[in-house]
Amino acid sequence: MHSLWALAILLLAKVTSAGSPSQKSAPSSLGKSRSLGPCQSCRLLISSFENGLERTATLPITSVPIGADIISPLSSSEPNASGSNQPSPVKEHISDDTRFEEIMKLLCSDVKGGKEQCAELVVAHSNLLQEWMQLETPWRPDLYTWFCIDKLHLCCPTNHFGPHCTPCAGYPNDICSGHGKCKGNGTRKGNGACLCDRGYVGSVCNSCAKLHYEAYRDKTKLICSPCHKSCAGGCSGAGTKHCDACNEGWETDDERGCLDINECLMLEKSCGKNDFCVNTEGSYSCFDCDRSCDGCYGDGPDMCDKCATGYTLIDKLCIDNSARFRDTKVDIARYLTYFGLCVSTCIIFQKNMTIASIIGIAVGMYIALSEYLLSEES
Ligand SMILES: *[C@@H]1O[C@H](CO)[C@@H](O)[C@H](O)[C@H]1NC(C)=O
Ligand SMILES: *[C@@H]1O[C@H](CO)[C@@H](O)[C@H](O)[C@H]1NC(C)=O
Repeated sequence: MHSLWALAILLLAKVTSAGSPSQKSAPSSLGKSRSLGPCQSCRLLISSFENGLERTATLPITSVPIGADIISPLSSSEPNASGSNQPSPVKEHISDDTRFEEIMKLLCSDVKGGKEQCAELVVAHSNLLQEWMQLETPWRPDLYTWFCIDKLHLCCPTNHFGPHCTPCAGYPNDICSGHGKCKGNGTRKGNGACLCDRGYVGSVCNSCAKLHYEAYRDKTKLICSPCHKSCAGGCSGAGTKHCDACNEGWETDDERGCLDINECLMLEKSCGKNDFCVNTEGSYSCFDCDRSCDGCYGDGPDMCDKCATGYTLIDKLCIDNSARFRDTKVDIARYLTYFGLCVSTCIIFQKNMTIASIIGIAVGMYIALSEYLLSEES
């Protein structure tokens, strides 16, 4: 029966992966899933199986109608145990055989990448999984160790690598001196070489890399730290004083080690005519002047050496001339309007004093309000 389930799982996995939208990039996605190592596939299978064990751990007997294969054990078809008055079978649990069937139904379905490889493993080795399930509960060994390492020889214990599960360099307490990863760790692959962390080199990562110095070393421990960025080639300690040589943009100072050169003070290196210079550690940057400037010593219209043509210096700021003229023109137009309103009021005044005084008050208020709003704005 379970081999039937295994076949169904495989078919399902094939169908779902064929129908997935990622199929458009078929070769790469296939290549990607193929690159899952056999040990990794085995791990996925075991974690899916363990999910199944968890899922079925508390299943009441009644929730598994025999022969009702399509209904998931978690579906809402379960009778309402707490509410029913019938003698409740809830306390008893399903047999391991039934539980195994339940697990097999959904095995590999919760796997994200590598569903197909998971299913292939199930097809090939469902009998082993069943064998494990039939072991008496207290003596069941750890499923991953038993299945992936001992029976199928797909994985190795942690910190072992290769076909014969060789211990990694420095096993057990000092693998790669604590500063690297062991290639093939936990699998039957790899050569056990150390992949050193940043700052460390050597076959067991027990030396400092270029531009790093030994910040601490005793018989068992080594700590490498990066040299100061002013150092070229290497250093014997922290800061600018222990550099072997100084980097470009830094100069040697007998007292203080490598000192930053202020390139902005050096004529031949400073920026173009309409740029200003900003010194940085080991280098410098040029930025465009404000467009109101003709040469400047910083950013903004208040840091000009001279104002650009079309701009005039007012209150230490270079102001656009056309803007200035526009402002005066607006002012003139405004005063002309006021004048016109007053003249009109005067003309009306000769004909009708009452209306004229009303209009006069309105015009006065209008002028006062306009001037108030304009002064608020500026
Ligand atoms: C079924 O159980 C729910 C809570 O689990 C309860 O609210 C409901 O009344 C129960 N229904 C019956 C028919 O007992
Ligand atoms: C090996 O892998 C295990 C877990 O898979 C991890 O805990 C351990 O740190 C790894 N060791 C090395 C040296 O990479």
